[in-house]
Amino acid sequence: MAEALLQPAAFDRFADDYDAGFAHSIPGRWLRHAVWRQVGAHLWPGMRALDLGCGTGEDALWLAHAGAQVTAADGSPAMLRVTADKAARLGMADRVVTRLIDLNAIDDLGGPYDMVLSNFGALNCAMDLAPLAAALRRAVAPGGMVALVVMGRFCAWETLWYGARLRRTAVRRWSGRSTADIGGAAIPIRYWTPGDIVRALAPAFQPVSVHPVGVFLPPSDLFAGLERHPRHLTRLMRWETRVAGHPWLARLADHHLTLLRHV
Ligand SMILES: C[S@@+](CC[C@H](N)C(=O)[O-])C[C@H]1O[C@@H](n2cnc3c(N)ncnc32)[C@H](O)[C@@H]1O
Repeated sequence: MAEALLQPAAFDRFADDYDAGFAHSIPGRWLRHAVWRQVGAHLWPGMRALDLGCGTGEDALWLAHAGAQVTAADGSPAMLRVTADKAARLGMADRVVTRLIDLNAIDDLGGPYDMVLSNFGALNCAMDLAPLAAALRRAVAPGGMVALVVMGRFCAWETLWYGARLRRTAVRRWSGRSTADIGGAAIPIRYWTPGDIVRALAPAFQPVSVHPVGVFLPPSDLFAGLERHPRHLTRLMRWETRVAGHPWLARLADHHLTLLRHV
């Protein structure tokens, strides 16, 4: 078990800076709120929720605010510590419990849950969706919802931006696999299409809706540059709102959200 946890623990070194660099950036917050708008319709007080790959717990705390009893699960002990500290500071320690997991050695996720939310690419670190789907089948209550936000196989922004600069990053997703340098460790990454997600979770989970997340807003490595141009940023956010209901654009977005119901 200790060996299996070596890889996600590579994310430890990002735990302290993750909010400043991504989660609390203006585009990062805005995109998260766009996800919340879709997921929020399926929440109710007293529900049981799992934040899978919770990072610094932004979604776990939001779910707890909505009245859920939340399990915040991640492979990075430092991320879990940030999540637990935030929950304690906000007086929600009794509603958010943390759990160390490895998405690549998943067995029991606990539960039953009425909602599982996995936001902003945690599942791109899972090499195989089949064991995850089996674990979700066991962990999600009948009628419960799963909301998965992952990086897609084709990101128009990334291809155009880096293609114009003749950088290999332009095509890094196309094969569906690459590696990311996470604090010096080469972490394998998978890129999933909405179809990959739907097929992996079928037939136990039926798709409810698919949404693009980041068609006009760029990937997070370009956030800092964009924040220096507030007028452009505002315009891109406005355009992003207009396309949130167009599932076919999910295939071109940085991330996409698939909502599924356990039948
Ligand atoms: C891009 S962050 C997303 C965090 C959070 N869901 C959010 O919306 O901000 C990816 C998260 O996945 C976790 N992670 C990566 N590989 C993992 C693995 N094999 N098992 C469990 N968690 C993993 C990392 O520790 C990190 O917190």
